[in-house]
Amino acid sequence: MEQIIQVKDLRFKPFISEAVILTHVERMANEINQTYRGQTVHLVILLKGAFIFGADLVRHLQIDHTIQFVKLSSYAGLASSGSIREEFGLSMDIKDKHILIIEDIVDTGTTLHYFFRKLLDAQPASLNIASLLVKPEALKYDIPVRFRGLDIENKFVVGYGLDYNDAARNLRDIYQLAE
Ligand code: IMP
Repeated sequence: MEQIIQVKDLRFKPFISEAVILTHVERMANEINQTYRGQTVHLVILLKGAFIFGADLVRHLQIDHTIQFVKLSSYAGLASSGSIREEFGLSMDIKDKHILIIEDIVDTGTTLHYFFRKLLDAQPASLNIASLLVKPEALKYDIPVRFRGLDIENKFVVGYGLDYNDAARNLRDIYQLAE
């Protein structure tokens, strides 16, 4: 029987198990290892949502890398607000460096549309995106997600770092809003 959980005022059903998530994380790390072999890559982990994905991903990396954190926000509750707030940004100079943005989920793409262009202006040697989840039906911008976990339908999800008003990030599996 499906185990429905309650998060604040909403009910969620199991959607992607921890085992499936971790298979995709390892596959993505292997692709990243192959792409950046012999180079140093600077990972920019977008907080807060990507902190668990980022932590699991880096433990499969076998290439030289550094870890940076950036905090942008566009979300309040269930819907993207459309405007981006930079709570804290990148402190390193990325010119001529290989940069890989680590994101939990690309929804409308508003966040990455803003951030990707901003980083491109700083002239990195290369700039790529790794996102665990993508909601293709929700996309409003063409976002070049080079390393991609799973495409999902356009429904709200929580767990594995993803939140509903800051709750449920600690769930090991990913849950989907129940009808
Ligand atoms: P976008 O700018 O619309 O692409 O939204 C990106 C950000 O919104 C992600 O980094 C998440 O933090 C958040 N987000 C988007 N969809 C969901 C969801 O289904 N659950 C939880 N957070 C989400």
